[in-house]
Amino acid sequence: MNQPGLFITFEGIDGSGKSTQVKHLAKRLSDAGRDVVLTREPGGSKGAEEIRSLVLEGVPERWSAETEILLFTAARRDHMEKLILPALKEDKIVICDRFADSTRMYQGLSRGDLRKTVDSLTDLMITRQPDLTILIDLDPAIGLHRAKARNTKEERFEDFGITLQTQMRDGFLKLAQEFSHRFRTVNGGQPTKSLSEDIYAHVQKAMK
Ligand code: TYD
Repeated sequence: MNQPGLFITFEGIDGSGKSTQVKHLAKRLSDAGRDVVLTREPGGSKGAEEIRSLVLEGVPERWSAETEILLFTAARRDHMEKLILPALKEDKIVICDRFADSTRMYQGLSRGDLRKTVDSLTDLMITRQPDLTILIDLDPAIGLHRAKARNTKEERFEDFGITLQTQMRDGFLKLAQEFSHRFRTVNGGQPTKSLSEDIYAHVQKAMK
């Protein structure tokens, strides 16, 4: 098919249901004949997956806030170079579970106000912004409960607890206003199927 590539990112607090929804969306678009690349951050390329375990495992205070921003940005740069940009060049639809907006929130807000640092580094190193960002909005208590039930070793951020999740939720809603040209907010508290429908409607509009 000769349609232009589209870069879609998903954002939201831990346990907001992003991983399920990105899979549904990828399947629906492939079933409709589109060429889809489904990926996630931190990770998505070999180098970035290696960085993933450095940032998600271990004690919450493992890295300074600034080092953490550098690690996430390094992982993202590798992911862009190796996977995202080549796929967009081939006119594919790239769906990414979390992207730079997660760094703007988690690293930019959680340990002091480092938003400017994140923005500067992102401007310098990440040349392509998403065309569409789906924000799955959810009550932080429900999100944290779901995330904790998964019981993985990647719990550094979940271990910061409900205060962080609430701060992240408010931050994401503000970010959606700031970048209103590309953000669309959907209600993560509704049943999976109707949530998928809401998301698909936004994607169809973006494809036009
Ligand atoms: P993810 O694997 O998407 O977990 P979940 O499915 O619970 O959302 O993300 C793992 C964690 O990484 C999550 O707690 C948020 C954090 N994170 C950052 O702190 N900064 C970033 O830039 C990204 C991409 C993720």
